[in-house]
Amino acid sequence: MWARAQKHVPKNHEEIFIVGNTYATLYYRSIRNMNTIKIKRVPVSVITKFKLWRQGKPSTRGRLQVSAKVGLFYSTSTGNTEAAAEWIQEKFAKHGDIAAPVDICEANVSDMQAFDSLIVGAPTWNTGADEGRSGTAWDDVLDELGALNLKGKKVAIFGCGDSVAYGDYFCDAIEELHAAFEPSGAELIGKTDPAGYDFSDSKSLVDGKFLGLPLDDDNEEDKTETRVENWCVQLVSEGMK
Ligand SMILES: Cc1cc2nc3c(=O)[nH]c(=O)nc-3n(C[C@H](O)[C@H](O)[C@H](O)COP(=O)(O)O)c2cc1C
Repeated sequence: MWARAQKHVPKNHEEIFIVGNTYATLYYRSIRNMNTIKIKRVPVSVITKFKLWRQGKPSTRGRLQVSAKVGLFYSTSTGNTEAAAEWIQEKFAKHGDIAAPVDICEANVSDMQAFDSLIVGAPTWNTGADEGRSGTAWDDVLDELGALNLKGKKVAIFGCGDSVAYGDYFCDAIEELHAAFEPSGAELIGKTDPAGYDFSDSKSLVDGKFLGLPLDDDNEEDKTETRVENWCVQLVSEGMK
């Protein structure tokens, strides 16, 4: 879902960059309602503002959209988790101040500490594995997550999987992310009831609850919007804003 860059930024919009280690993503953000349109990905080397920020000039940092209260980070291989993150951004924005979704492979893990709360999501690809279940960039930073200081902050996790073809391992990566964040001191919220899901087993089902929100765009894409909508309401009721 990329839009073409315009010579002049559209009226009532500003340019912002979400900056990772290698690439930065350019968005146009409405100054009226903060809605963002994803424009293009560019090497960070071409972004002067990023260079300034890296040199420790925090005045540019607001342009990186870490001014939002809730950070939204995901990983993806085929786009489902990114699409889910976009649903979450849209639905949560009705209740609170949420940043545009950022692919964790484009982010510095330490950037997460700038937010009051976090919503993070991962697919499950590494079927049956104990470690590295997402098969994505999260697997490289799991240890770093636990080393963050997120005391007093809330973290909620969503995941994408396939409850039919991989019904014995449905959304296993949610539990791995959950365990990775625990040492950070964050309060982990957003557990969900498995009623309404048809699966055999999941490492993410603990004491009768999923440790986050599982989504299945392979078989139940029509349920994703409502599941996300309800979950966002739940997160707000659990104090995320
Ligand atoms: C080879 C392969 C292995 C998979 N393993 C699992 C799995 O263990 N558990 C699960 O719930 N889904 C599994 N899936 C389904 C993906 O997690 C699902 O399609 C997900 O939506 C992909 O998200 P993404 O597009 O963000 O990468 C697997 C899919 C493939 C093709």
